[in-house]
Amino acid sequence: METTRSVLITGGAGFIGSHVVRRFVNKYPSYLIVNADKLTYAGNLENLTDIEKKDNYIFEKIDIADKNSVTALFRKYSFHGVIHLAAESHVDRSITSPDEFVITNIVGTVNLLNAALNCWKNNFDNKIFYHISTDEVYGTLGKEGKFTEETGYDPRSPYSASKASSDHMVRAYFHTYGLPALISNCSNNYGPNQFPEKLIPLAINNIKNNKPVPVYGKGENIRDWLYVEDHSAAIDILFHKGKAGETYNIGGNNEWKNIDLIRMLCRIMDRKLVRSEGTSEKLITFVKDRPGHDLRYAIDSTKLCRETGWSPLPDFEAGLEKTVEWYLNNTGWMENVISGDYEKYYELMYSGR
Ligand code: NAD
Ligand code: TYD
Repeated sequence: METTRSVLITGGAGFIGSHVVRRFVNKYPSYLIVNADKLTYAGNLENLTDIEKKDNYIFEKIDIADKNSVTALFRKYSFHGVIHLAAESHVDRSITSPDEFVITNIVGTVNLLNAALNCWKNNFDNKIFYHISTDEVYGTLGKEGKFTEETGYDPRSPYSASKASSDHMVRAYFHTYGLPALISNCSNNYGPNQFPEKLIPLAINNIKNNKPVPVYGKGENIRDWLYVEDHSAAIDILFHKGKAGETYNIGGNNEWKNIDLIRMLCRIMDRKLVRSEGTSEKLITFVKDRPGHDLRYAIDSTKLCRETGWSPLPDFEAGLEKTVEWYLNNTGWMENVISGDYEKYYELMYSGR
């Protein structure tokens, strides 16, 4: 099939990126999808084995912080669109080693902006640079209210500060150079293929193995959870219909205290593992809180819903149950991630190519 559009997806071997890559490769056979990923500890090509042989898919092992590689990539493919997901994404890691977050999330984003600007500067028609960001840039909420697109930025962790900086650079390129760019800020995602350093896959894996489930502080912190496929659907819509210069908030309208979420997960795990009720809850262990732990995130996605008709999965328990089933049916994936064996997959599949 003739290629109508070449699209760069950065970070496509990660959690959300792999869902976005799969969706675009399958749904848009006339697009050439180039997945550019450094394959850090969070990048796993085993997430994409089902589509890796498709004609409209190419993988490029690239560090976005390396300006020359990024420039060469744009020269090679003359992209029409960019969906930028590559990032260091874990708050706890950003607390112990913030430098990587500055290098990838800020410098890496600026390298991509420069390359896109250089490639598109004579003709911005039908081009779009779509930057995927987080609700964490808005800081923390008290008991009331939700983040809207007008909420002022107030990041409080090195992760959220690095994402906020990259958002500012994207907006600066729109206003200063006219680069057609848009941003979406999303709440916490959950679903298959999430690296087990994040709360939900970590808890599923520990419960399965009868290990303590660490809950920070008193478990009172609140997050707004969104199924990863709902995020991926919103990205698809915004890539095609979002307006340059605009920001869109994406959320699940689904707020849960960590402790209540973990208790629900324990009940689901008891059912799935055919354990007597209450067995998994005994594994809950309260541990020292994360420094600067944001109390509450909640997203108002009215703008996205009103303008595009997008809406999230209504039933969180069903989404969580589907997620649990995926992890229990894919124990090989989890074992490879934990042992680090997935890192050998690249060598096996791509060496000599
Ligand atoms: P992830 O950590 O699972 O994946 C990140 C991917 O980026 C990995 O494949 C990694 O190899 C790649 N990467 C890291 N540094 C790179 C570099 N220097 N060059 C090229 N590739 C690099 O992250 P995720 O949870 O899938 O998040 C994806 C994006 O969505 C991030 O930008 C994140 O800030 C944003 N986001 C995530 C959530 C969430 O709940 N996970 C919510 C809102 C927004
Ligand atoms: P996480 O999945 O790291 O996402 P984020 O920090 O980006 O929101 O954490 C979700 C919530 O769960 C957050 O309030 C921190 C808390 N948490 C725990 O209580 N225990 C854990 O082991 C982890 C990883 C997180």
